[in-house]
Amino acid sequence: MIKVAELSKSFGAVKAVDEVSISVNKQDIFGLVGPDGAGKTTLMRMVCGLAVPDNGEVRLLGETLGKLEQARENLGYMPQRFSLYGDLTVMENINFFGSMYGLNRKTIAIRADEILALTGLNMFKERLADNLSGGMKQKLALTCSLVTRPALLVLDEPTYGVDPESRKEFWKTLYRLNREGLTILVSTPYMDEAELCTVVAFMDRGRVTAVDSPSNLKRSFRHPVLEVRVNTRDPEMFSGLAETLDYSFYGDKYRVVVDDIEVGRQAIERRLAEKNAPAASIREIPPSMEEVFISLAETEGDN
Ligand SMILES: Nc1ncnc2c1ncn2[C@@H]1O[C@H](COP(=O)(O)OP(=O)(O)O)[C@@H](O)[C@H]1O
Ligand SMILES: [Mg+2]
Repeated sequence: MIKVAELSKSFGAVKAVDEVSISVNKQDIFGLVGPDGAGKTTLMRMVCGLAVPDNGEVRLLGETLGKLEQARENLGYMPQRFSLYGDLTVMENINFFGSMYGLNRKTIAIRADEILALTGLNMFKERLADNLSGGMKQKLALTCSLVTRPALLVLDEPTYGVDPESRKEFWKTLYRLNREGLTILVSTPYMDEAELCTVVAFMDRGRVTAVDSPSNLKRSFRHPVLEVRVNTRDPEMFSGLAETLDYSFYGDKYRVVVDDIEVGRQAIERRLAEKNAPAASIREIPPSMEEVFISLAETEGDN
C-alpha cells in the first residue's frame, strides 16, 4: 500500500527524515513510534504528498509520487492538529469535510451514519464540537477523515493528550476499521500503543532504528530484564550500579535491565542489602517496548 524508499528531508541543518525505507502492507496497522522531533510528522506529510522530499521515493498503492493525485483519492489523513469547527455540530463538521471532497449530502449522510455507529458518536450528531470531550473530538476527527472512504488512513498522533480510557476506545475503533479492510499508518509517542500495532517502526532522530512486529522486536532484545519487588520505594535504588544497563521504578517494583542475569542478580542483591531493603522477589520478565526502544536508540547514538 505504501512503499517508502530512502526518503530524506532536512530543514536547514536538521535531518528531519534521514534515509527512511518502510513498506506498509494492506493488512497492517503500521505504527511509527518515537519521541517528539523523531521525524514522524515529516515522514507522514511526505507520504501524503504534503511535503516534498529532498531525496528518495514514495509509492502509494503502486503509483509513483507523480501520480499521487489519483492515489490520494484513496488516502485519508488526520493531521496532528486536526481542526474541527467548534461552533459547528458533529454532523455539520462531517458535512463540511465531505463537501470539501465533493461528496453530496446524501452520500455523506449515509457514510456518516455508518462511521458514527462504529465510533459510538451517533447519539451526538447535534452536539457542538466544542462541547465534546477530548476523546470524542478525536473520534469526530477520525470520522471526518473517513468520510471519503479511503483504503489507506494516515493518522498522526491521533490520541495525543487524550485520557487512557478514550485511547483504548480509539484503538478498538482502529481495530474494527482494520478488520474491515482499512490499511492504517499511525504515529504515536506512547509505547503502550506500539504494542497494539501489527508492525512497528521505531523512529529516532530522523532514522528508523528497527521495523518488526512487537513480538519479534521483543524477542530480538538481547538483555534480560529482572523485576524486583521490594517494600522500599526509592527512585534512586539502582543508580550507578555498573552491572545494570537501565532501570525504571513503578512504585512497588523495579524493572532492571542487565547484561548477564546472574551477575545482575548478585549486583541487585548487594545493592538491596546496602540499602537495607530485602527483596520480596526477583524474577526474569519479558522486555517492554520501551526497553527495546531505549536500547535501540542508545545503540544508534553510539554510531
Ligand atoms: N517546517 C519545519 N521547519 C523547520 N524544522 C522543522 C519543520 N518541521 C519539522 N521540523 C524539525 O524536524 C524534526 C522532526 O520533526 P517532526 O517531523 O515534526 O517530528 P515528530 O512528528 O516525530 O515530532 C524536528 O527537529 C523539527 O523541529
Ligand atoms: Mg509530529
